[in-house]
Amino acid sequence: MTTRKIILDCDPGHDDAIALFLLCYTDKLDLIGVTTTCGNQTIEKTSRNANNLLHYFNKTNIPLAKGSSKPLNRKVMTCPEIHGESGLDGFTFPNYKDNFDYRVAYQLISDLCLENDKVTIVTTGPMTNLALALIHHPEIKEHIEEIVLMGGSTKEGNITKEAEFNILVDPEAADICFRSNIPLRMLGLNVTRRILVNDDVMENARKINTRGSDLFVKLMKVFNENQKKFFSLPSGPLHDPATIISLLRDDVFTFEDMNVSIDTSNTNKVGKTICTKEKPFNCKVATDVNLEKYWEVIYDHLKRCL
Ligand code: BDR
Ligand code: CA
Repeated sequence: MTTRKIILDCDPGHDDAIALFLLCYTDKLDLIGVTTTCGNQTIEKTSRNANNLLHYFNKTNIPLAKGSSKPLNRKVMTCPEIHGESGLDGFTFPNYKDNFDYRVAYQLISDLCLENDKVTIVTTGPMTNLALALIHHPEIKEHIEEIVLMGGSTKEGNITKEAEFNILVDPEAADICFRSNIPLRMLGLNVTRRILVNDDVMENARKINTRGSDLFVKLMKVFNENQKKFFSLPSGPLHDPATIISLLRDDVFTFEDMNVSIDTSNTNKVGKTICTKEKPFNCKVATDVNLEKYWEVIYDHLKRCL
């Protein structure tokens, strides 16, 4: 079997940082590009964070491109309540130099797709860059093996009753991706809100005592405190790495075939992922998670970041 080629489009973001970390420390997936989107913070901040993370993981050889500074049709919406003013509060990086590609994110995505036979696109933020790539270069569709996203929910949302953050920020972009006929795999709040960074997880990570676990523990401490305050959750749900873990192992998540469409209205339902089995299938939707195995993957990779 050939190793899947991955582009990560992200808005780091505490949980995005851990998704990127997994990609940098596995030999089972081939990370060929990273792009940033505005979401958890402004594009300047999420891009700076992605740049710092790639330096910290010794992966400055991976092309990194800045994405759109705003959603397709809507106003910028950020989430400092959870991710702080920097977008990655809790960890201080050295003064790393900028290492950005000359291309904008949608152009890098398109070029990498066309240069490769098949690419998997993982999105852990609003889907603006991928939608722009599909608008400007529809010919890349044939090169996309699958879109794997953290976003949406089969049940309730987190920002509004109906909508999850990544979809709510840019529902039009999500709509373009969900109607693209490209195979889709969605890991939404209905499973990711069960993946809590509780005291046991923090303790296990602390004991690993590597550069990786140092970053993890410091980031998760702030992430947990903010999630408790803002969402009244017992601790922080580690959403975004679910995408990568589902690609690394097929025994962690259960998926069901569904039809998923996006509410792009201007009502209080905007951003809802409408999931049904009554219409033709377009998306594999995660419906269950084995938590023990999930953390096993995280710990295993934390040990590798020395
Ligand atoms: C999603 O929103 C962001 O705050 C997280 O990084 C995650 O991608 C969860 O709704
Ligand atoms: Ca994210």
